[in-house]
Amino acid sequence: MDLIYELIFTVFPYLCLATFVVGHSYRYITDRYAWNAHSSQILDKKSLRWGALLFHAGIIMTFVGHAGGLLIPQKYYDLFGITSEMHLAIAHWMGEVVGIAAFVGCLLLLWRRITNHRVRAAGTINDLITLGGLTLVVGLGVYNVFFGNHNVLNSVAPWIRGIVFFSPEPDLMRPVPLSFKIHVTAAWALLGFSPFSRLVHIWSVPIFYFFRRRIVFRRKPRNAPGVEGFGRLESGGKEG
Ligand code: HEM
Repeated sequence: MDLIYELIFTVFPYLCLATFVVGHSYRYITDRYAWNAHSSQILDKKSLRWGALLFHAGIIMTFVGHAGGLLIPQKYYDLFGITSEMHLAIAHWMGEVVGIAAFVGCLLLLWRRITNHRVRAAGTINDLITLGGLTLVVGLGVYNVFFGNHNVLNSVAPWIRGIVFFSPEPDLMRPVPLSFKIHVTAAWALLGFSPFSRLVHIWSVPIFYFFRRRIVFRRKPRNAPGVEGFGRLESGGKEG
């Protein structure tokens, strides 16, 4: 039993993390041309809009919530007067909103991938595994928020911090309900799989786009310096 906990809640997360780091580095070096979101917008724009919007808004907020809620210990929240009850209530209500947005988005995107013949023809098994995996992880997360009824601040949160700061304590996962265990294990698996999928685009957010200088395109006026030369060439080299 101890060995099983050790394998699932210590060895497996580190295997997935190692695959995540090495896999991304390897893919970035060897396959940079395919390092993108593989957008299918050109094949069908209409059915993508709501799915992509809900999914991305929900999943990005979910990441922020997980990072803030699980990685930062409760004692730091206490300093600002946020008790564990308040912390759990915020996590619960925010989790419901952003989790449902991400889950509905996942279902719409998955439905589109399966039923739209153009998107299906251009898609791959890898796309289905990616969306299927996301739907499973997000779906279980939403299930836990609604029906989990478990205080993660004393179990899952310190366990995940133990993994991140290299002092794993798999026993912390003992009292955790099965649905939480499947959720975290599926999430690690997806993390390990992500370097080999279109999920690599997450690390290429075009933030610099907002700060770069504008590129201004405008016609050159006819009488601007140099235009005569250009005109000469265009009109077969004849002057006038
Ligand atoms: C960080 C900012 C992000 C940006 C700027 C971004 C951008 C994009 C773009 C441009 C597409 C192509 C849309 C299309 O299918 O035509 C896309 C697709 C996708 N993104 Fe993101 N993304 C981000 C974060 C994420 C995150 C955090 C996840 C999941 C963990 C994710 C998962 C996906 C998936 C699964 C698709 C494919 C949807 C489909 O066509 O079925 N993205 N993303």
